[in-house]
Amino acid sequence: METTDYKRFTITAALPYANGPLHIGHLAGAYIPADIFVRYLRLKQKDVAFVCGSDEHGAAITIKAKKEGISPQQIIDKYHTQIKESFEEFGISFDIYHRTSAKIHHELSQEFFLNLYRKGEFIEKYSEQYYDEEYHQFLADRYITGTCPNCHSEGAFGDQCEKCGTSLSPTDLINPISTLSGKPPVLKETKHWYLPLDKYQPWLEQWLLEGKKDILKPNVYGQCSSWLKAGLQPRSMTRDLDWGVDVPLEEAEGKKLYVWLDAPIGYISATKQWAQDTGNDWEKYWKKQANDADDSCLIHFIGKDNIVFHCIIFPAILHAHGGYILPQNIPANEFLNLEGDKLSTSRNHAVWLHEYLGDFPGKQDELRYVLTSILPETSDSEFTWKDFQARVNNELVAIFGNFINRVLVLSHKYFDGKVMPATSLTDKDRLVLSELQRYPQAISSSIEHYRFREALSQFMNVARLGNKYLADEEPWKLIKTDEERVKTVLNISLQIAANLTLLAQPFLPHTALKLAEMLGFYEKDWALAGQEALLPVGHQLNNAQLLFEKITDEQIESQLQKLQAAKASNSLASQKKAVTPAKENISFDQFSAMDIRTGKILTAEKVAKTKKLIKMTIDTGIDQRTIVSGIAEFFNPEEIVGKQVSVLVNLEPREIKGILSQGMILMAEDSEGRLQFVRPAEEMAAGSTIR
Ligand code: MF3
Ligand code: ZN
Repeated sequence: METTDYKRFTITAALPYANGPLHIGHLAGAYIPADIFVRYLRLKQKDVAFVCGSDEHGAAITIKAKKEGISPQQIIDKYHTQIKESFEEFGISFDIYHRTSAKIHHELSQEFFLNLYRKGEFIEKYSEQYYDEEYHQFLADRYITGTCPNCHSEGAFGDQCEKCGTSLSPTDLINPISTLSGKPPVLKETKHWYLPLDKYQPWLEQWLLEGKKDILKPNVYGQCSSWLKAGLQPRSMTRDLDWGVDVPLEEAEGKKLYVWLDAPIGYISATKQWAQDTGNDWEKYWKKQANDADDSCLIHFIGKDNIVFHCIIFPAILHAHGGYILPQNIPANEFLNLEGDKLSTSRNHAVWLHEYLGDFPGKQDELRYVLTSILPETSDSEFTWKDFQARVNNELVAIFGNFINRVLVLSHKYFDGKVMPATSLTDKDRLVLSELQRYPQAISSSIEHYRFREALSQFMNVARLGNKYLADEEPWKLIKTDEERVKTVLNISLQIAANLTLLAQPFLPHTALKLAEMLGFYEKDWALAGQEALLPVGHQLNNAQLLFEKITDEQIESQLQKLQAAKASNSLASQKKAVTPAKENISFDQFSAMDIRTGKILTAEKVAKTKKLIKMTIDTGIDQRTIVSGIAEFFNPEEIVGKQVSVLVNLEPREIKGILSQGMILMAEDSEGRLQFVRPAEEMAAGSTIR
């Protein structure tokens, strides 16, 4: 069945984590494409539920709470509100923007879990997990800290080292410590409930790889087939966590549902809430109907990092539950970059929607337009401020805005804003009208195939058609000689303007509304698009207002400066971290009292029962002596034998773990605690002095 053969649609856009504000990458990834699609479907008189909401569980939330020093509840309340507002401002026309902390959502997620549990779908597996014996509880990944095995900085979390960004498992940590008791945790068995994805693999191959070969976008199909090729593994649907939906089993006290189990169910609970609020029947949008042809068409708009969850895990859950429809398509976008660099929340390399609105009030459609022009539909794409300016000034202002302004101003000037009859059409007129007629179909087809960039450019071609027609006909000259002809030219131009009003609705909703008011034309039926008599003769137009203004060089400069400032403050912050403050001055005598020599490592072995210590025999040129050094986390004994080093040879001998250490090997240490030997650039004889 072709997409638009369906009568009813359930359109979802990924639930954003309520752990920070939205930026342009969010809009370009999922929300603009979804909104264009939905607005188009509504114009096609389809029955649509467009649902979204905040994803309020998972480590994304609790980690942010820890960072800001407030509770997870405060985090989600703060960002849910802000995100919801940004969506409204940009005209993302959800029927409901819900949240996963809602009771109705917890209940539905638990019902899903219990349904699968009772059917015996889950595999119950024990595994070893860190446990705090003093607090009698399993430790969520982030409640365990220790030394990062990668960069060796202290205070890495059980799921990630925030210093070097490496993602970790708790058992990767060196010297793990529970943040609850401050004591080392013990490994203890814990039980979890796994979804047997491997069992569903044959079904997934059939349903997805075979069934959707021709309709999935290539980037989506590619990811799915490589996941399936690698072979699916059972995935745990429960977690030892303290934030999320409770696992509804007595024996699972203290455990929560895996966030990727509950979040997509958020689409359904949002629909339920919306149906409750509006007296609708939610099941029509989610459950299989008696007659296949009555099933709703479920489409998930997402970014590429969500593909596996929406193409494999969630469908497997719906399939295992039974009774639910499955997604018809999952049009995922790739990523949007900014000024030659990845968008980054932590580095503040982003265009935040709430900041954009402060800097460009009322210019939501300008951003929608530019982002739609550069959507990362088939590969990553790039937003630059110069390009933003060029597209607004050369396209929206110079073509679309200019055309509308000229038609309206001329109509008011010559005919008091009334639509005049088009009499005796020329060949040129007929050609223009027949072109006009064929655009809606082209735009439809592009939208239905998720080619929104192409759809937008077809739309702009309609504006170009109008603009060129006026420029060619020059009614401002004709008026002196042939008023009848001017009536015709303006009639045709106004019909094009009315068409633009209709066709702009999916892409530029704020502009479409302004245009509708100017023209007194409020139709919302795509079937009318392309027609040449949308505005009847005698129809009264309202006053013209400018649709778009030019973006100035100063505005662009100031945005670029903002990004520069963020960059500078990042590198300042990292420099600050990097440099340890200078110590107090010492005398020259104190300095020259140190006897530092080049030496060579002759033997090296780990000191038993220690993590950090290596015992070495060093040829100092003066003698061969034993030195113990805390470098075992960075070097294997085998790899350092034969290496040249620098040795402080007159350091008072010390006993370390029962070994007499006679001297000190000099090491350079960076801010992350990484160590390197200090040695001459070229090999020198052992015993050479260093001063
Ligand atoms: N919060 C997730 C993200 O930002 C997306 C969740 S989509 C849902 O990556 F399907 F799980 F809701
Ligand atoms: Zn690290």
